[in-house]
Amino acid sequence: MKKICLAAAIASTLLAAPAFAQSAPDSDKIVVAHRGASGYLPEHTLPAKAMAYAMKPDYIEQDVVMTKDDRLVVLHDHYLDRVTNVAQLFPDRARDDGRYYAIDFTLPEIKQLSVTEGFNIKDGKQVQGFPERYPMWQSDFKVPTFEEEIEMIQGLNKSLGYDIGIYPEIKAPWFHRHEGKDISKAVLKVLKDYGYTSKDSNVFLQTFDFNELKRIHDELMPAMGMDVKLVQLLAYTDWNETMVYDGKGQAQPYSYDWMFAKGGMEKVAKYADGVGPWKPMVVSDQSTKGNIKLTGLVKAAHEQGMQVHPYTFRADTGRIPAYANDFNDMLDIFYNTANVDGVFTDFPDKAVGYLSSKDSK
Ligand code: G3P
Ligand code: CA
Repeated sequence: MKKICLAAAIASTLLAAPAFAQSAPDSDKIVVAHRGASGYLPEHTLPAKAMAYAMKPDYIEQDVVMTKDDRLVVLHDHYLDRVTNVAQLFPDRARDDGRYYAIDFTLPEIKQLSVTEGFNIKDGKQVQGFPERYPMWQSDFKVPTFEEEIEMIQGLNKSLGYDIGIYPEIKAPWFHRHEGKDISKAVLKVLKDYGYTSKDSNVFLQTFDFNELKRIHDELMPAMGMDVKLVQLLAYTDWNETMVYDGKGQAQPYSYDWMFAKGGMEKVAKYADGVGPWKPMVVSDQSTKGNIKLTGLVKAAHEQGMQVHPYTFRADTGRIPAYANDFNDMLDIFYNTANVDGVFTDFPDKAVGYLSSKDSK
């Protein structure tokens, strides 16, 4: 983690909670608060971001989607139905696939919604995705705009004296562009408005969409006088994470296969400062305790000068891979054995605490 300065009085207040880091760790390894402190409060709500902030990660993540009236909101899905009461408030607004798309709603409509812990519908009932987490529908949370979240983080940077960065992800740019919306341009404009313009700015801009990453790097940023750090997120082709429309308007899955082949990282590095792989792309699931098998991805990315920030580190029951003893052991394997540069985690206090304890030895 980068060194950060803070007034002693403020520090003693913040550090009163035992779960929070006891001191600012001093290493180059970073912690990204994935959807905020989403292990403790509903993801991507401002309270989850404020809580994450108090845990002192290096970056706080925003997943960004666009509304019908061209506003940017912080939501993981380009659907509203997994984390809000949209189906109850606007029952007639689902598309034929049964989903409620953020892009079909204006910001004033989205602001009417309540946000809760993520859920799935099973046998007509809402079933919480992570049952050990914050209870569903308790208290009242809202969908923030991208600007509201940046203003809160920048406001806390001023009032607390830290310098915590942002890590926005442009969600499904292929989908937004097919719907006639240039989400990347809109995100870049907001970043520029709030002072994130250069490689030195405290931001990583991420996307799963390589074609869009190239467009951002080669066209959009030069046209806007910007040059922020870019991260290519890695997926497997069969996840259908990124689609490409053919001449007949049919969507086909984008093939990520080349990224994992020889020379893949060299090509990505022409456009990106880092990559964001899924954990098993770094440490093979064939690993066992005491026999960790690395895939070679970190080495290949480092050879091209890129950072590696895998996702997603979760401490919930059943989320620790069989090759790790516990959450800290998993962090140790990734930070030290695999030599990643940072991690996305729903539990930023635990990762910050881990790095702090290593630094104090
Ligand atoms: O962006 C890194 C990580 O967040 C990717 O996974 O699906 O949570 O956005 P996702
Ligand atoms: Ca993300």
